[in-house]
Amino acid sequence: MSTRTALVGRARELDQLVDGLARARQESSTQLVTIVGVPGIGKSRIVYELWQLADADPEITFWRHGRSLPYGDGVTFSALAEMVKAQLGILETDSADDATAKLRDSIADLIPEAERAWIEAKLRPLVGLGAESELGGDRRSESFAAWRRFFEALAEQRPLVLVFEDLHWADDDLLDFVDELPDWVDGAPLLVLCTARPELLDRRPGWGGGKRNALMISLSPLGDEETARLIADLLDRAVLPAETQTALLARAGGNPLYAEQFVRMISERTDGEAELPETVQGIIAARLDSLSSEEKALLQDAAVLGKVFWPSALAAIGGVPDSQVEDRLRGLARKEFVRRERRASIAGEPEYAFGHLLVRDVAYNQIPRAARAEKHRLAAGWIDSLARDRSDDRAEMLAHHYASALEFATAAGMATDVLAEPARSALREGADRAYALGSHRQADRLYSAALELSPEDHRERPELLLRRAHVRNDYNQEVDPEDIAAALGSFLATERHDLAADAQMLLAKRMWNAGHGALAHEHADRALELVRDAPASPAKAIVFTESARLAMLAGDVERAEKRGAEGLEMAERLGLDRLRASVLITLGSLPGDRARARLERGLALALELNDVQQIQRGYNNLAEALLRFGQVAEARALYGQQRGTTDRLGVRFIWQDAMEAALFYSVGEWDRAEHLAESFLAAVESGTSHYLEAVPRFIRALIRYARGDRERALEDAERGSAAARSAGDPQIVAWLAMHATLMLREGRTDEASALADEVEAVGLGFFNYYLTSDFGLAMTQLGRSEELSAHLADADLGQPWLDAGRAMAAGEFAEAARCFAELGVATFEAQARLRAAADLVAAGRRREADEQLARALAFYRSVGATRYRREADEQLARALAFYRSVGATRYIREAEALMAASA
Ligand SMILES: Nc1ncnc2c1ncn2[C@@H]1O[C@H](COP(=O)(O)OP(=O)(O)OP(=O)(O)O)[C@@H](O)[C@H]1O
Ligand SMILES: [Mg+2]
Repeated sequence: MSTRTALVGRARELDQLVDGLARARQESSTQLVTIVGVPGIGKSRIVYELWQLADADPEITFWRHGRSLPYGDGVTFSALAEMVKAQLGILETDSADDATAKLRDSIADLIPEAERAWIEAKLRPLVGLGAESELGGDRRSESFAAWRRFFEALAEQRPLVLVFEDLHWADDDLLDFVDELPDWVDGAPLLVLCTARPELLDRRPGWGGGKRNALMISLSPLGDEETARLIADLLDRAVLPAETQTALLARAGGNPLYAEQFVRMISERTDGEAELPETVQGIIAARLDSLSSEEKALLQDAAVLGKVFWPSALAAIGGVPDSQVEDRLRGLARKEFVRRERRASIAGEPEYAFGHLLVRDVAYNQIPRAARAEKHRLAAGWIDSLARDRSDDRAEMLAHHYASALEFATAAGMATDVLAEPARSALREGADRAYALGSHRQADRLYSAALELSPEDHRERPELLLRRAHVRNDYNQEVDPEDIAAALGSFLATERHDLAADAQMLLAKRMWNAGHGALAHEHADRALELVRDAPASPAKAIVFTESARLAMLAGDVERAEKRGAEGLEMAERLGLDRLRASVLITLGSLPGDRARARLERGLALALELNDVQQIQRGYNNLAEALLRFGQVAEARALYGQQRGTTDRLGVRFIWQDAMEAALFYSVGEWDRAEHLAESFLAAVESGTSHYLEAVPRFIRALIRYARGDRERALEDAERGSAAARSAGDPQIVAWLAMHATLMLREGRTDEASALADEVEAVGLGFFNYYLTSDFGLAMTQLGRSEELSAHLADADLGQPWLDAGRAMAAGEFAEAARCFAELGVATFEAQARLRAAADLVAAGRRREADEQLARALAFYRSVGATRYRREADEQLARALAFYRSVGATRYIREAEALMAASA
């Protein structure tokens, strides 16, 4: 972009930008401004104008630029990587050690001790350093959290502007990251400034929309008068011949780049008369044609490299000595085709960039197709010659060049053998990096491309298949079991036991998720068999810890304990902290005295590591344990703490929404419970199914039913049951008890009974404290109290729940209500009271019944449970009528007082 001429127009738009920056500073908030417009309309220019203003301001503002480039589907997070590398002063030519040292130093200046290791680990793959690979799972949210913390810490030092240029070329994950920034970074002055061509809005129609701190500026064409001024300024003289001027204004259509290129064209022409090409591209092409053949060739070589390039790369591609390259570059810079950048990313080399990306595009298109293959191959060779030990962030660039070379060579009928192998290996490296960064779409795409280039008998094919299957599994995508089976077969045949075990464990997890528990265990056992005699290794430790987790989920305590203990020992010995946190949490989820302490240790470790996944598991399982022991208030406080942590990290777990919905429902905070259930269900409805879906469905069903929304309640209950059955997990299936109670209220006894049978078939499990109420009520009403007692005898529940359950089984509902009251679960208490009242009335113990009713009524009024309120009201009214008919004045007064008190 040339800034030789003064800015014309755009005063209003510039004001909006200035205002955005001022707001970010004054409010210490994050502002997202997106500038949209067609190529050459002036998006980058207006960003530059803001930069100038900020630069002149005595208060220093940090600026970081990141570009997205038009290579295939974009290089994963390339714009972010560019920003971070510039911030840390990391050059492409730095060795891994140097880059690591720079990373550590900067982090030490910025980030409090406790978070340093975590942020470093998450920034490493971004700047081209290897990544840890302890456990799979969703790495994206954790990477996002760490990167946000990094930028937030920068903004805390000084106001920060992050410029994401040409976002229409960004990969989808980068778009997500940028889009979410204003939601999570708060309390520090940050302006996120994006430029994009209108295609961005085709990809993301709602971009930035509906956000408090988001603004979209759409750049329209300049007016004729403004364009004329720009042309005059560019020409250093006031007017063109009238005809040319009119034709030019019409053709330029208010596009400054067109005007600019046009003026350059006529000033470069010696033959005077200049015809007007239709498009900017046409003008640029005409200008390129007027260059010497050496200059033109150089620009074409540069176009192969991309927007930025270096003399040594051009020398390598063009086979021209460095000194000549630099001479020619200087000449091209004078003609403003290219410019020298102030920054450098290759040690000891000046960096050049195209004046405008359209110049690059036009130059590229002029390269004969057959010549492109060779040029891309040479470009790849040059990139490959840079520091080998941190090649991963260049892998996608390499892959792009090799893949292009391959494509053009194939099209030209040239030999391709020499290209396939390096292309395949670059694609694989790129995929590994994308996976480490948490970009599963990109990883999937790159592994798939690498597989395309791997013949059936290729040595690495099985590994590629397995990795792609892992990516898909981690991010809940469809996995072809054939892929895993093929990989497994080959690992077994070649005796690669670690990998074979890994494939077996993946199959085990898939089987478990698909509800085939027995098959899952078979696979897990085979995985163990494969590594049992091998020396301790991370792969082995993973097999043990993962199979312990599966056994825990299936309720196979003994197996879980044994494998978990071995996994823990190995993780400790090998210093695998994430794995250690994971297995502690697994072990802590088993029944027994040691559980609580293990969970607490696991959670503490996960918090220390900022390991998002284990933090989530740790909190959830610890809360479950507290609930199981009857420490309802403590569990609630723990959920509060979890919210604090997830907010700090900027992640959201819909899992927690479901569990909290259940808790808030039981303690009588129905609005909150419903809100959480709805937010869970909204997330599920907009995406894929979630294995916990049954829980929020039942919670909402119960609340809706109580509030008189019967139809929709029953629909939720149906769908909840379907979800519970397809989840196949005993803990979830047990929730069918909720459906059973609704069926009983509907008088559909047979169905209730069948549902109770289903629950019985899987057992109460050890998570199901909340079922003592509904399951208990259903069983007693169905006349199956004895079965209930038997289940309670087996249940791993704290004494308070057992007391409540046993009172229930014994038909002592008032006593059960008292237990529930002590536990602090008001909803269960009210249910028991209503039931107690019915029995007391039947036994003729009117006054005691009245008291139970009044207390239930007070609760149902408070939560707006119209249906039960009506039930209780009617019962009380009937009692009153009876007392009146027999003239029991004293009881009349008491009943009236009760009704008034609960009103
Ligand atoms: N309002 C203006 N006044 C003067 N010159 C301008 C103005 N707007 C743009 N220009 C000039 O026009 C050229 C093209 O502008 P710019 O590079 O900002 O376009 P862009 O919208 O970023 O295009 P692209 O989508 O291709 O990135 C630049 O040389 C720039 O300096
Ligand atoms: Mg631009």
